[in-house]
Amino acid sequence: MAVLEDKVAVVTGASSGIGFATARAFRDEGATVFVTGRRKDALDAAVAELGPGVTGVVCDASVPSELDAFYNTVRDRAGRIDVLVANAGVGTAAPFGEVTEDLIDSLFATNVKGTIFTLQQALPLLSTGASVILTGSTAATRPSLGLEIYAASKAAIRTLARGWALSARTHGFRVNVVSPGSTRTPGLLELVPPEILKQAEGDIPLGRLAEPEEIAALTTFLASDASSYVNGAEFFADGGYAQA
Ligand SMILES: NC(=O)c1ccc[n+]([C@@H]2O[C@H](COP(=O)([O-])OP(=O)(O)OC[C@H]3O[C@@H](n4cnc5c(N)ncnc54)[C@H](OP(=O)(O)O)[C@@H]3O)[C@@H](O)[C@H]2O)c1
Repeated sequence: MAVLEDKVAVVTGASSGIGFATARAFRDEGATVFVTGRRKDALDAAVAELGPGVTGVVCDASVPSELDAFYNTVRDRAGRIDVLVANAGVGTAAPFGEVTEDLIDSLFATNVKGTIFTLQQALPLLSTGASVILTGSTAATRPSLGLEIYAASKAAIRTLARGWALSARTHGFRVNVVSPGSTRTPGLLELVPPEILKQAEGDIPLGRLAEPEEIAALTTFLASDASSYVNGAEFFADGGYAQA
């Protein structure tokens, strides 16, 4: 049986990578899915590939007014949100000593401010018992050299989830974090040179990178009623990288 039948889901940052694989998994499980991204051409291509049942809206998660416009579309077309995946995120590397104000502002604008407003602006639409899933990272637990600022932005995600989990009685949602390890996505391949990726595979107990579908499978569990008593937790899909 499809586990997300009749559910309305939102996945931010879904024109590529983990978000795209998540939207596809949700579609396959029967959900009506709304997806976002900043680049219209990339989003249009993703929506064309995902097919009926998936709606794309250009929306920068770091701009609250764009989130408002996006949620107006969701309200008009679906009336509610049962599953919200705040996945939009960016990664930028800089050796410590060369960190700039722009790098900090851009990472925190999307990864932290974007996540906060993605949930806050959605509150009026969340159905009772809605599942909220935030995309964290193993970087928050085991930061790599040069990714300290990105790691700090993802540590904030973990802390936000702990705090928001207390809102369950007030706002009626549950919230959890999915923390991927290195996952074969356009975002990672642009960030990390191939020789470093090869080396990184050696540090992963499973000996390989994750595929985006392996992250989406975990997110699908958290989106479904099978995880109805799970709240405030962090789940790693990292091949054991940050656990050993
Ligand atoms: N891949 C990994 O190894 C890995 C590991 C741990 C955690 N993560 C996290 O997983 C999430 C997805 O990463 P990914 O590797 O799948 O990256 P990706 O392939 O670069 O995809 C990122 C998606 O987010 C969108 N996006 C970026 N900034 C946005 C914004 N401000 N507003 C709306 N959409 C935005 C991008 O489209 P536009 O550029 O068109 O906006 C794209 O669709 C991120 O939160 C990332 O930090 C990834």
